[in-house]
Amino acid sequence: MSTFQSYSFKGKRAIVRVDFNVPMDKTTGLVADDKRIRAALPTLQHILHQGGSIVLLSHFGRPKNGPEQIFSLAQIQHRLSEVLGSEVLFADDCISEEAFRLSSALQPGQVLLLENVRFYKEETAGDLAFAEKLSKHGDCYVNDAFGAAHRAHASTTQLAGFFQNDKMAGLLMNAEIENAKKVLKGAERPFTAIVGGAKVSDKVLIVENLLQIADHIIIGGGMAYTFFKAKGGQIGASLCELERLETCKEILERAEKMGVQIHLPKDAVIADRFAADATTQVVPSEQIPDGWMGLDIGPKASEEFRSVLLSSKTILWNGPMGVFEMTAFEQGTKNMAHAVAEATKNGAFSLIGGGDSAAAVQQFNLSTDVSYVSTGGGALLEYFEGKILPGVAALEA
Ligand code: 3PG
Ligand code: MG
Repeated sequence: MSTFQSYSFKGKRAIVRVDFNVPMDKTTGLVADDKRIRAALPTLQHILHQGGSIVLLSHFGRPKNGPEQIFSLAQIQHRLSEVLGSEVLFADDCISEEAFRLSSALQPGQVLLLENVRFYKEETAGDLAFAEKLSKHGDCYVNDAFGAAHRAHASTTQLAGFFQNDKMAGLLMNAEIENAKKVLKGAERPFTAIVGGAKVSDKVLIVENLLQIADHIIIGGGMAYTFFKAKGGQIGASLCELERLETCKEILERAEKMGVQIHLPKDAVIADRFAADATTQVVPSEQIPDGWMGLDIGPKASEEFRSVLLSSKTILWNGPMGVFEMTAFEQGTKNMAHAVAEATKNGAFSLIGGGDSAAAVQQFNLSTDVSYVSTGGGALLEYFEGKILPGVAALEA
């Protein structure tokens, strides 16, 4: 197997699978957050500096029926070229004759961006013939799309098979795996995982897996209320997954048996409706009046969680504590972000993953005060669920 660092890209055309599935600003039509583009830069620069050329492959959104303007990667061409500091060519179809004409004419130092691979249903189907066509774009295959590594799609898995001796993980992919491994396989203790977000059902597998390795699990966000309900609390109109009550009970029981401390938020900021200007008050999380809903953790919870974090050596954070997109309900998530930053300053290793937690840390200007912010959402989650990521496995096969 080749490694990115030892491979010679001189005179080669490298097919680089990236995850440029970036959020767009709907009003301006511009890239709203270019983190994923900037994160791929070291890989791209390395290839170009060695005298290689690059054919970029990515998905963008979830188009269902072929080409659609709102899913066109043409929308990111300009920002990509700004980040790269050089011109980026664009092919408006990833396997058209024109696309192959452009890729075969690439000169060392040039970059070609191909249109959204998901405009072909063969991509998500993991179609081998489609992957073979894509393989004709270059001499080697670099996968730097950690964010899509949990998808067994043609460009993330099958394509690797056409480059038996010339396939490798890019620098971003390697960094992501290394940081995730540090937490999953070699966490210094105490290890605290913060799990948040709206739904228990999205996080059951990760919580179950974390029970094997964490010392503390902090649970916040909408999912916490299903736990309170399971414990017999009054949760008013808060989010609740009735079909998950048993799961919550089991998790609490297993945690106790395994000596893992689960921390639920003692108090909650509740609102009389789901709105930025709702009437709010702070109450114990298991005593929420009818008609009111918990939209953030309260100050007592923040204080308790902070002290757990400050005594931790390893921290994993996936999912916000409340509706941080609204100022009235951002404080809990903000407090957590500051506590994670403080713990990091004191020497803890902190890994932030999942689109929402990464966005929160960015919103509070703390991205550089934590150890690593992953570009992966679902991919990181699946990694911590203990699953094999097909995109990574295909490089090792
Ligand atoms: C993401 O943003 O989570 C990745 O780019 C994967 O996208 P997908 O969930 O549409 O496969
Ligand atoms: Mg996703």
